[in-house]
Amino acid sequence: MTSGHVFIATSLDGYIARVDGDISWLLSRDNPGEDHGFESFIKNMDGIIMGRGTLEKALEFPSWPYPKPVVVLSQNLTASDVPEHLQGKVRILDRKPRAVMEMLSQEGWKWAYVDGGLLIQSFIQEKLIDDLVITTVPVLIGRGRPLFGPLTADVSLTLLESKHFPSGLVQSRYRILR
Ligand SMILES: NC(=O)c1ccc[n+]([C@@H]2O[C@H](COP(=O)([O-])OP(=O)(O)OC[C@H]3O[C@@H](n4cnc5c(N)ncnc54)[C@H](OP(=O)(O)O)[C@@H]3O)[C@@H](O)[C@H]2O)c1
Repeated sequence: MTSGHVFIATSLDGYIARVDGDISWLLSRDNPGEDHGFESFIKNMDGIIMGRGTLEKALEFPSWPYPKPVVVLSQNLTASDVPEHLQGKVRILDRKPRAVMEMLSQEGWKWAYVDGGLLIQSFIQEKLIDDLVITTVPVLIGRGRPLFGPLTADVSLTLLESKHFPSGLVQSRYRILR
């Protein structure tokens, strides 16, 4: 079956966005001179599965940032919510995580980039995430949308690698233990 992989940045206090979805605190701390590995990560992915919240923010960007096919999970959006210029690049699905992975597996996807805090949480609960690259940004934002949330059981991880950048970003790669 298709495996899920996470590549995400959080504030030091564990948020991926402010409550209203703002990520300017994150973008303003990006240092284009540093290679944080996103390009080589996404090269290996067959596509991206994201939650509605992540799509809504991405649609505000000046240009579409994803070079691979995108599947958006939502109970509220329909195909007509996909802007014309993204038809053929973005699909809206209302399916459970495991059913999505089974469907994508049949389509030939081996590796899926899973993005969005709530979506990542539900994929972790369903044991559909293999590994996570988490880049911690040295800022406290106090409140926001968390990367992680409630669990029905502990999730143990192995640290595969950790490195830091001159900008102060700390990046750690974990594998989820089964
Ligand atoms: N810091 C970073 O690197 C990073 C990365 C990605 C995103 N972000 C930011 O994070 C924010 C979005 O994250 P988020 O956690 O608010 O939302 P999200 O995970 O992107 O989307 C959540 C929505 O997806 C839909 N959904 C469908 N199936 C789901 C399932 N099985 N589990 C959970 N949700 C499901 C639901 O919408 P419906 O009600 O329509 O069903 C739900 O409200 C944005 O501001 C984005 O810019 C930051």
